[in-house]
Amino acid sequence: MSAISTDPRLKGRAVERIAFDEATIARRCAELGEAITAAYPDGELLVLGLLKGSFIFLADLVRHIRRPLHVDFLVASSYGNATVSSGAVRLLYDPETSLEGKHLLLVEDIVDSGRTLQHLVTLLEARRPRSIEICALLHKHIATELRHPTRFIGFDAPSDFLVGYGLDHAEDFRHVPYVASLA
Ligand code: IMP
Ligand code: MG
Repeated sequence: MSAISTDPRLKGRAVERIAFDEATIARRCAELGEAITAAYPDGELLVLGLLKGSFIFLADLVRHIRRPLHVDFLVASSYGNATVSSGAVRLLYDPETSLEGKHLLLVEDIVDSGRTLQHLVTLLEARRPRSIEICALLHKHIATELRHPTRFIGFDAPSDFLVGYGLDHAEDFRHVPYVASLA
């Protein structure tokens, strides 16, 4: 803990608590990869990472999925300063390949309200995929707006604001290799 609180990546901030360390995350990625491999015995699998938060998790996860797959990314518009969603989410980057007939696996860093994912699932369903599932590194289990089940979950998240392993605070800390809450 003392070594971590002087981590030069943290801009002088101290870590309040390491929620999930590197070894714990690595073990869980291997388990999730195995579960995902078993869940897709056939068909085309397209792993869709939600940028930017999923970039490290996705990179680790796909290396544990032992079947053919393609990778693409989605960039969803944010809701700006509105605390309540005004309507459908917009895609700022949209995969160029057809989604029809494919198994889609959406990879997200953390499910909080679930609003973003619910809008994305609705939007992607219209492209007639064979299936849509969600894999989230972290889940706060307060997602009142997400009607679609989150089939693959890395960890139940504490209610603190978390950073690292892709998660940011004002774009800082994404490159921190563990998940922590800041003091
Ligand atoms: P939702 O649409 O409310 O589920 O918001 C999910 C998005 O909010 C995630 O993809 C993150 O970008 C962000 N987010 C939610 N909770 C946290 C957190 O604890 N740390 C960092 N980002 C978070
Ligand atoms: Mg974010």
